[in-house]
Amino acid sequence: QLSQRRKMDALGTLVGGLAHELGTPLNSILLLADAAAVEPPEPARKKLQLIGSQARRCGDLVALLLGYSSGTAASQSREIRWEELIQSCFAAVKGDASVALFTEVAPGIETAVVPELAIRQILENLLRNAVQATQGRPQAGVRVQVELDRDTDEYEISVQDNGPGFSEEARERAFEAFFTTKGPLRQGTGLGLYVVYHMVHQIGGRISISDAMEQGAKIVVRVPADDSKRPDR
Ligand SMILES: Nc1ncnc2c1ncn2[C@@H]1O[C@H](COP(=O)(O)OP(=O)(O)OP(=O)(O)O)[C@@H](O)[C@H]1O
Ligand SMILES: [Mg+2]
Repeated sequence: QLSQRRKMDALGTLVGGLAHELGTPLNSILLLADAAAVEPPEPARKKLQLIGSQARRCGDLVALLLGYSSGTAASQSREIRWEELIQSCFAAVKGDASVALFTEVAPGIETAVVPELAIRQILENLLRNAVQATQGRPQAGVRVQVELDRDTDEYEISVQDNGPGFSEEARERAFEAFFTTKGPLRQGTGLGLYVVYHMVHQIGGRISISDAMEQGAKIVVRVPADDSKRPDR
């Protein structure tokens, strides 16, 4: 998969450039929203605060894509509780879809020190895909499991849904920028898994689409459990 690798590198450069250019307008949006949020009546103020917080998250994402390391919010490690982190990522993407969430965190690893923002972006993207894939299905559900592989000292986070699963083409091309099977009317840009792929690697991890035994899609993300093994330390 050498040419695939080369394509990824070229796209990495492109994303780096884009991320850099996005920094300036994002910063103005953030400052303007913050300034305006203290002025108008209540309903508008709420929306402006939301605009501000979303712009802040985009800013963190830009920082992460640019590879800014320690000191930025994006790659900073914090102590998290897996259960809470997963629940809040799910809440952020669920909307009014009817999908059940099942979480399984292995005993003894309820808390962890990980780059919270990166893990959050990764989980939200995977969960959004799962919610979209299971929409309208009876018993729609997504299962998130977290385990610790003591041989490699990695957390293994798997996200599995009971939707239709990846098509053969999607399985091969899922991590390509702009690859989507969702069409323009169904809010698919095809950047979700592309960004996820880069983030996972940036924090020293790996990602794979597993050949799920059962029906549905299963994605497995592995990240170093030992903070000192992350490249950005
Ligand atoms: N849980 C899933 N089940 C089935 N197919 C999936 C799943 N997740 C991703 N895919 C396939 O991989 C493609 C790429 O996913 P990706 O998240 O990169 O883009 P997208 O979801 O189409 O758009 P975006 O994330 O930018 O809104 C999807 O269009 C879909 O075909
Ligand atoms: Mg997506």
